[in-house]
Amino acid sequence: MADGTALTAPLGLLAELTHRCPLGCPYCSNPLALDKRADELDTQTWTRVMHEAAGLGVLQVHLSGGEPAARRDLPEIVKAARDAGLYSNLITSAVGLTAQGLAKLADAGLDHVQISIQDSDEASADHIAGYKGASVRKRALAADVVALGMPLTVNMVVHRANIERIEAMVDLALSLGAKRVEIAHVQYYGWAMENSAALMPTREQVDVALAAVERLRAKHHGAIVIDAVVPDYYARLPKPCVGGWGRRSLNVTPAGKVLPCHAAEVIPGLEFWNVREHSLSEIWRSSPAFTAFRGTDWMQEPCKSCARRDQDFGGCRCQAFLIAGDARATDPVCHLSPHHARVAALADERADVPYRYRVS
Ligand code: SF4
Ligand code: FES
Repeated sequence: MADGTALTAPLGLLAELTHRCPLGCPYCSNPLALDKRADELDTQTWTRVMHEAAGLGVLQVHLSGGEPAARRDLPEIVKAARDAGLYSNLITSAVGLTAQGLAKLADAGLDHVQISIQDSDEASADHIAGYKGASVRKRALAADVVALGMPLTVNMVVHRANIERIEAMVDLALSLGAKRVEIAHVQYYGWAMENSAALMPTREQVDVALAAVERLRAKHHGAIVIDAVVPDYYARLPKPCVGGWGRRSLNVTPAGKVLPCHAAEVIPGLEFWNVREHSLSEIWRSSPAFTAFRGTDWMQEPCKSCARRDQDFGGCRCQAFLIAGDARATDPVCHLSPHHARVAALADERADVPYRYRVS
């Protein structure tokens, strides 16, 4: 590694099987320029990727998209993950996946299902997803997951339109039989950046939501695990984004590019290698994008001499580029960043404008 420390093995692989999706969530983590169906990796290549990932030390694969069920060969890909010895988690919108389709995935060895819920209020949920009837289908698929005896996690992305219903959303997750709920505040890259004024919660909303999470954790202790983190724009210290660049995880895009994080393509000048031309192991060890910000040698002040540099790795490289204009800069979420005031200014930019929906 650039700073002399040993290269660790990645633990997780995010396999973005397709960018196709029936929903249009305005905070979608997919890039603004979506991969086309014709450019998607074939079944055989995904099978090889699963085995290479396991060989590299990966333990879990998150089958994501877009909507992964849009791929007809999803059962084969699940089976490849199982054969490779990986724990597989399907991250689904639930729209486009039937009970029969789910049963096939269970037979193929799927270990876990994560369903996104846009809101506890059905009309609002469908409006956020840009798809009428999505909410009913999500609830039905959640019941199918539980009936098959598979563990269910509910993922909720919170923002100005739903943040005041965190309690009702956790109650909904419990009633659906979820064992875990992930409350994720919108991360402002790509589509979410396009919609930031419409999505940004107020400081008061965030404070009330953080208190609600603490109350709900105590109330539902033992019944459901509640994962939630402070939203970046209201934090004083950054998170170790993706567990540190090139340290814990990799992302394979539908067309086969391997990224250190889902948003890495926003950083200009990074060279991403593709699984069509390189093994995952070569990419992890030596690809220019993975080595660019691995370790601490690339850091500038104030990170370079900061005691927290091996804990948060300077925060998020994508956010540093998007807000400070320099991917090597300290994440502006950090109060020591010279650009920290810009974060507070962005958090104050709110407007009641219509969503710009993501389009497939
Ligand atoms: Fe983390 Fe850098 Fe801020 Fe220190 S200066 S807390 S390493 S982001
Ligand atoms: Fe890319 Fe944080 S999202 S490093």
